[in-house]
Amino acid sequence: MPDMKSFRIVVNRAPVTVSADPDTPLLWVLRDDLGLMGTKYGCGVAQCGACTVHVDGRPTRSCGLPIQSIGASHVTTIEGLHPDGEHPLQQAWRSGDVAQCGYCQAGQIMAAAALLARVPEPTDRDIDEALSGNLCRCGTYLRIRAAIKHAAKLAAAGKLP
Ligand code: FES
Ligand code: FES
Repeated sequence: MPDMKSFRIVVNRAPVTVSADPDTPLLWVLRDDLGLMGTKYGCGVAQCGACTVHVDGRPTRSCGLPIQSIGASHVTTIEGLHPDGEHPLQQAWRSGDVAQCGYCQAGQIMAAAALLARVPEPTDRDIDEALSGNLCRCGTYLRIRAAIKHAAKLAAAGKLP
């Protein structure tokens, strides 16, 4: 029987309390306890990026992060990126028809959002470096790169929340 404990964490700007084994990866708390299904399980060993969320703004593999390590940090998932799904990256992803199967895309967008917050006009190299750990088995990399540049333009026009 796992040793269940209560954790109060902040997810998408709202405090929530969950009961979990302290070693439970954040990914499973998000999906199973909080019903935030946008964050995906790919490899489970921090190698593919499908489970990327932000922890205090940093892109983080939620499959490898035990719930007990979150503390007072703020977690943001794809559902919390923008209240209406209108973050410039989400707009650019839609207009660029980036997704193919879609499985990796939430992780790609979260990695890209962290990049744009840090580098408002990223070069190809900035993008490739920042997203090198986010794998896409459908090979949408060129559309991802174009969408990030499009989003950067939207953000420069004042559309980044
Ligand atoms: S599922 Fe977390 S990196 Fe692959
Ligand atoms: S769109 Fe299919 S894995 Fe990336």
